Amino acid sequence: MMDPTQLHQALLNLCVNARDAITDSSTGNLGRGEMRIQTTVIRSFEMRKKFSEASAAEYVCIAVSDSGKGMDEETKQKIFEPFFTTKERGKGTGLGLSVVYGIIKDHRGHIEVETEIGLGTTFRLYLPVTEALATPAVPQEESAPDDLRGKETILLVEDEQNLLGLMKTALERAGYTVLTAADGLSAIKMFSLNKDKIALVLTDLGLPKLDGAAVFTSMKDIDPNVKIILASGYLDPNLKSNLLRSGAKEFIQKPYSPNLVLRKIREVLDAAS
Ligand SMILES: Nc1ncnc2c1ncn2[C@@H]1O[C@H](COP(=O)(O)OP(=O)(O)OP(=O)(O)O)[C@@H](O)[C@H]1O
Ligand SMILES: [Mg+2]
Repeated sequence: MMDPTQLHQALLNLCVNARDAITDSSTGNLGRGEMRIQTTVIRSFEMRKKFSEASAAEYVCIAVSDSGKGMDEETKQKIFEPFFTTKERGKGTGLGLSVVYGIIKDHRGHIEVETEIGLGTTFRLYLPVTEALATPAVPQEESAPDDLRGKETILLVEDEQNLLGLMKTALERAGYTVLTAADGLSAIKMFSLNKDKIALVLTDLGLPKLDGAAVFTSMKDIDPNVKIILASGYLDPNLKSNLLRSGAKEFIQKPYSPNLVLRKIREVLDAAS
C-alpha cells in the first residue's frame, strides 16, 4: 500500500543514477553495462538481522543494481544528504537519493546500499507489507460542476497524508491529472522532472524538509512562469506580501473545501498570463 507516484519517483531516481553510473562521464556515451531490478519478499526474522528495529511481519524488497563505476566509502557516507552530488554543474541537483530516502522513511521502510569501485552498486528498498487495506476517508461527492473541471496536470504538495489523498481524489474527479509530493525536496524534484507538463502547483506552506516558501523560490528558478497557489493555516502578513510580490498567484486559507480549491485553480489557470 503506497502512493504509486511516490514509488515511481523512487524507482526513477534510482534508475537514472544507475544509468549515470554506467555512462562514461568524459564522453557522455552509454557504456556497456547492466541494470537489474529485482523484487523479493523478506520475512521479519531475516529483516531483523539487518535492521533490528524492523517490526512488520513481511517486507517487499526492491533491488536496483547496476554494473557501473561504484562509489568510494567517502561518497557512500554522503549520498543521502540533500544537495550532495558528484555530478558536474547542471547535471545533478543532488536531490535524487534524499528524495528516495524520504519516501521510504515515510512508508516506514528501510534502505541499504552495497557498492564497490569499478564493479557496481545495488540499492535495496525494503517496504513493509500492510496487513489491512487502508481506507482513506474520502467523502462520496458527486463529480465537480462543469465550470470547475479541467484537464491540466497539477502538482499537489501536502505532507498530511489524509488531506493529500482527499485533494488528489477531488482533483482527479474534476478531470485533472495529479502528481503528488509529501515534502519540499521531493516537490522540487518532481517539478524539475515534469515541468513541461505541470500547469499549476498547489502547495502547503508548512512542509517538512524545505518549507513551501523555499519550494516556491526554487520552482521560480526552474521556471520563472510557474503558477503556484499556496495554502496555509495562519500566515504572517509580511511573509504573505513578500510571496505575493515574488509572484505567488493565490493564497488559500486552511482548512479549505475542495470546491474552493477547484475554483481558485480555474481562476489562476484561466487568467491571462
Ligand atoms: N548507482 C550509483 N552508482 C554510483 N554512484 C552513485 C549511484 N547513485 C548515486 N550515486 C552517487 O550519489 C550522488 C548523489 O545521488 P543523488 O541521486 O542524490 O543526486 P544526483 O544523481 O547527483 O543528482 P539528481 O539525482 O538530483 O539529478 C551522485 O552524485 C553519485 O555520486
Ligand atoms: Mg540522482
